[in-house]
Amino acid sequence: MSGFRTLDDIGDVSGKVVLVRVDLNLPMQEGHVTDTTRVKASAPTILELADAGAKVLLLAHFGRPKGARHSTMSLSLVQGAVEHVLGREVMFIPEVSGPVAAQAIGILRPGDIGMLENTRFWPGEEKNDPEFAKAIAANADIYVNDAFSAAHRAHATTEGLARILPAYAGRSMQAELEALEKALGNPRKPVAAVVGGAKVSTKLAVLKHLVGKVGHLIIGGGMANTFLAARGVAVGKSLCEHELTGTAEEIMETADKAGCTVHLPYDVAVAREFAANPASLRICNVHEVGADEMILDVGPQAVEALGDVLKTCRTLVWNGPLGAFEIEPFDAATVALARTAAALSREGSLVSVAGGGDTVAALNHAGVAADFTYVSTAGGAFLEWMEGRELPGVVALVK
Ligand code: 3PG
Repeated sequence: MSGFRTLDDIGDVSGKVVLVRVDLNLPMQEGHVTDTTRVKASAPTILELADAGAKVLLLAHFGRPKGARHSTMSLSLVQGAVEHVLGREVMFIPEVSGPVAAQAIGILRPGDIGMLENTRFWPGEEKNDPEFAKAIAANADIYVNDAFSAAHRAHATTEGLARILPAYAGRSMQAELEALEKALGNPRKPVAAVVGGAKVSTKLAVLKHLVGKVGHLIIGGGMANTFLAARGVAVGKSLCEHELTGTAEEIMETADKAGCTVHLPYDVAVAREFAANPASLRICNVHEVGADEMILDVGPQAVEALGDVLKTCRTLVWNGPLGAFEIEPFDAATVALARTAAALSREGSLVSVAGGGDTVAALNHAGVAADFTYVSTAGGAFLEWMEGRELPGVVALVK
C-alpha cells in the first residue's frame, strides 16, 4: 500500500486545528479502562502534532450508541486514561460540531489537545453523511487518520472527512499499512499463514483469500476440527461445524490447485471435559480421538513440524490461537509456535505480522508480542484486510 500522505508531508501545522481520528473504543470494566494499547499506539502521532504547535482535536467513536447520546458511552469516561498515557492534559468537548464545539476549540492554544464527544452519538457518523462531516470540518484545517482498526467502517470521521480536508495517515496508521504491505501485499516468499479460532464460519472469506496468496496455510483451533472431519477424521465431541465440511473440502481443493499446502494437526491434545489440567487429558493421533473426547489443542509433534515449516518461510501472517489457549495446558501449541516465530523474527529470517481479536492476547500470553515484526491493534479491520477487502478509511487516504 503506497500513495498515502503521512505526517512527513504535512508541512507547518503550528496554530492549525488538526483533527486526529483515533480508536478510543477501549475495553472497560466497572467504569475503568482495562487496556490502553490503542491510546499508546496513537500517542506518537498526537504528541508529534502537539509538539509541532498544532491544536490537536481527538475524534473517535466509543461503543455502538446508534446515533443517540448515552452517558455510559461518553468519551469523557476515557479522558483520564488518555491523559495518563499522553502525560498531558486533554480538554473534553461534549460536542463534535456547532457553536459549543467552535467556542471550546477557540480556547485551545497551539500545542493543546482537545477531545470531541463520541462521534456515534450523531446518526450522521455511521451514515457517512457529508453534511455531518462538513460541520465537523468547519472547525478544523487538517485531518489525520490514525485509526486503522476503524478503517473498515465507511463512516463520516473514518472516510468522509478525508474527502473534505487535506488528509494524512498518522504514525500508527502508517506503520500498520507498511507492515501489512510487507505481509501480504508484496511479501518475501515463502509466506505462511496461521489461522486459528473457534469457528470456520467466521473466517471463511479469510481462508478462501489466503489459499491463493500463501504457500502454507496452518489451520488450528476449533476450526481445524471441521477440516479434519472433512478429511474423514472422527472428531468425537470436539467443536465442529459439520455442515461446513463441504466448504472445507472446497477450500482444500482450491489450495491444492494454487500450490498452497494446508497443514492440519496429526496429533492433538484431547480431554473429556473443558477444564484446566483435566484428569482425562491425553495426547493422541487424530485418528484415535474417542467418541466422548474433545480436541482442545494441536499436539507436540505437529507443533514441532509446524515450527520446521516456519523455518523455511520468510513471511508469516498470524490470526487466531491454535488451541483453547485461555485454559492450561491447551495454550501449549500456541505458545510453542509463537515462540518459534518470535525467535525467527528476532534472528531476522522471518517477517511476522499478527492481529485480530484473541491473537494479541495469545501472543502476550506467550510473552512474545514484542518480538513479532508487527502486531496490529485491529480486530475486525485486520480480518477484513486478511479477506483481501479494501478498507474505506484507507482507500480515502490514498492519493
Ligand atoms: C474496534 O473496536 O474493532 C473498532 O473500533 C471498530 O468498532 P466497531 O466494530 O464498533 O465498528
